[in-house]
Amino acid sequence: MDILIENMDIHISGEAISQQLGISRASVWKHINSLKKEGFEIESKSGIGYILLGKTDSSLTSYEIKRGLETEFIGQNIEYFKSIDSTNTFAKNIAPKSDEGMVIISDEQISGKGRVGREWISKENEGIYFSIILKPDIDIMNASFLTQVAGAAMVSSLEKMGVESTIKWPNDIIVNGKKISGILTEMSAEIDQISYIVVGIGVNLYNQSFEEEIESKATSLKKEGYDIDKKEFLQRFFLEFEDLYKEFLSGDKESTISILRKKSAVLDKEVYIIDRTGKTKVYARDIDENGNLLVEKENGSIETIFTGEISI
Ligand code: BTN
Repeated sequence: MDILIENMDIHISGEAISQQLGISRASVWKHINSLKKEGFEIESKSGIGYILLGKTDSSLTSYEIKRGLETEFIGQNIEYFKSIDSTNTFAKNIAPKSDEGMVIISDEQISGKGRVGREWISKENEGIYFSIILKPDIDIMNASFLTQVAGAAMVSSLEKMGVESTIKWPNDIIVNGKKISGILTEMSAEIDQISYIVVGIGVNLYNQSFEEEIESKATSLKKEGYDIDKKEFLQRFFLEFEDLYKEFLSGDKESTISILRKKSAVLDKEVYIIDRTGKTKVYARDIDENGNLLVEKENGSIETIFTGEISI
């Protein structure tokens, strides 16, 4: 992309691009097509080459996100769509052949997926929808901790942007008592070896209203009075996530756990655990060193909750 921007308004041949970037002509063509898909207006004239004319709309591009992105690998490869079925589904399809840290972003999702088979409504100009491909060399038992890493990274980045948020264990991000973001972590593994993990995140940025069924539980940052810039948010989030993820890979969960405890929406409260058997009233005591929730039941016994849904 730099090469086209540097030569804006001048035709540059496919041959010249392929030589400068050290890639094949077919790769140049593929690259040009994905830039067009992102909203760049690029004219191609046979025998002369390509010319960048500008942007067809004001939406974000992978190029803008990568510019100024301070991470080592999270978000250094981005595939940006205007519309897609689900970034998680796409990420899972390309994960086997992708590098760790690759991010899929879309302006809208036609079949956005939430947890437990729910739908994640993903309209254009309302939220951010993205998925990160990870290939950690960790025990399968530890994989769900990545949801916690993402949650901790989310509240930290929001805090740095002036937004006070909390985490409703295990994966809902809450502002003023209502949900603004959710995380869906999906994994592909052999018996004891992780092939890849996809961490999918949706954030309600600019929604003005919500469907009746979720209106009492969902909100957007805009509705709560925060005007958040998409690019700045993504750049901050990728950096926070990478820092906590690297720490986790080195065997240290300390920073994440400390954020989870400090920013918990459930600790020291009476909450309900919702599972197949129904709703059980418990007291949320602590988050253990592996990110599991420790609850005290009405009979006084302490139970470790590994996954599930909590209602406050
Ligand atoms: C939840 O139920 O709280 C989890 C919601 C996760 C939504 C995100 S949006 C990007 C990614 N792609 C999907 O289809 N789902 C996740």
